[in-house]
Amino acid sequence: MSAVPVSATAGVRQAARRLDQSGVRVFQLGAGEPQTPSPAEVVAAAGRAAADPRLHRYAPGQGIPDLRDAVADYRADLYGHALSPDAVLVTCGAKQAVFNTLLALVDPGDEVIVPTPCWVSYPTMAQLAGGVPVAVPTTAEEGFTPRVQQLEAARTPRTKVLVLNSPGNPTGAVYPADELRRIGRWALTHGIWVISDEVYGELLEKGSEPLSVVTAVPELSEQCAVVHGVSKTFAMTGWRVGWLIGPARLIKAATALQSHSTSHPTAVAQQAAAAALTDARDAAERMRADYQRRRQLVVERLSGVPGVTLAAPRGAFYAFPRFAPGGRPLDDEEFATRLLREHHVATVPGAAFGAPSHLRISCTADDDELLEGLDRLLRALP
Ligand SMILES: Cc1ncc(COP(=O)(O)O)c(C=O)c1O
Repeated sequence: MSAVPVSATAGVRQAARRLDQSGVRVFQLGAGEPQTPSPAEVVAAAGRAAADPRLHRYAPGQGIPDLRDAVADYRADLYGHALSPDAVLVTCGAKQAVFNTLLALVDPGDEVIVPTPCWVSYPTMAQLAGGVPVAVPTTAEEGFTPRVQQLEAARTPRTKVLVLNSPGNPTGAVYPADELRRIGRWALTHGIWVISDEVYGELLEKGSEPLSVVTAVPELSEQCAVVHGVSKTFAMTGWRVGWLIGPARLIKAATALQSHSTSHPTAVAQQAAAAALTDARDAAERMRADYQRRRQLVVERLSGVPGVTLAAPRGAFYAFPRFAPGGRPLDDEEFATRLLREHHVATVPGAAFGAPSHLRISCTADDDELLEGLDRLLRALP
């Protein structure tokens, strides 16, 4: 356990909350979650579910049938991903879906390729599963997505898993369809499992269709774990509902594993998540449009600023600029601490994601707060 750090993003959240509780107005550019309430349809469904005594008891370990059916319909509608509800394991957030999958797949010493910058938990989870995380660095110039040649250079006989996250946290990068297809075929050829974390899958630019590696390369379905959930798209991070979609042997293993840990997410929350997928798609679409507009605001505000490099994010609700004011790479951790303490702007230092000199800027605050936060940030730069 001495090798396991506390999640860096959780640390920022706590520091900002402490400041907020002491009465200081904090400009929240650090949150990895929507700032809006969950959709009214979800809250109403949860109220009805809480009054239903059937949901006061243990639920089926793989998830309540209403939710697994809703997941199958949703995936078919939005991703063209045909699947049986039996291929779905409901988990406590997308986080537990990733963790269950790594615990189920990874033997001691197996290597897990993780393109970086990446979500803070992948490398730690790979280690906790007994594996060895192998970073494949990507840059803003490459759009923060790896090419097959880079993955091939990282492949060894111990490579077991590749983690893909598109749209990505912290970069907002979206894998181009042809590159995703090439990567999927490469994994197939070499018998490498793919964990496709699609928790931001629908948060794209208008007109872009959600794309999963498993629909891009259907033959991959026997060695692909799709991770998805309601947290981000439906502003439901606190409800703790996600799911894993995979081949029968993985679902069986992950369900057995989960039966000895959390059993299942709260039955009432599962019913609310089913309502989100069926009744709250309009609300999700409005939030998607808000994030797209705000990502654009960040791009406009930062473009042309000397010493700032930004790959325009195409999805999720993040931007990930690099700062080198006066040509000197920013000490992101020192700056983020000072920015919060002295200028009351919360961001997350890039080092947390394996990319020093960057800051993750979240576009979930409303437009005025976002723009004021950005102005303060620019004024505070050395
Ligand atoms: C890439 C990525 N995957 C998974 C998660 C976890 O999602 P959940 O809250 O559904 O567990 C997050 C949350 O920040 C994330 O950014």
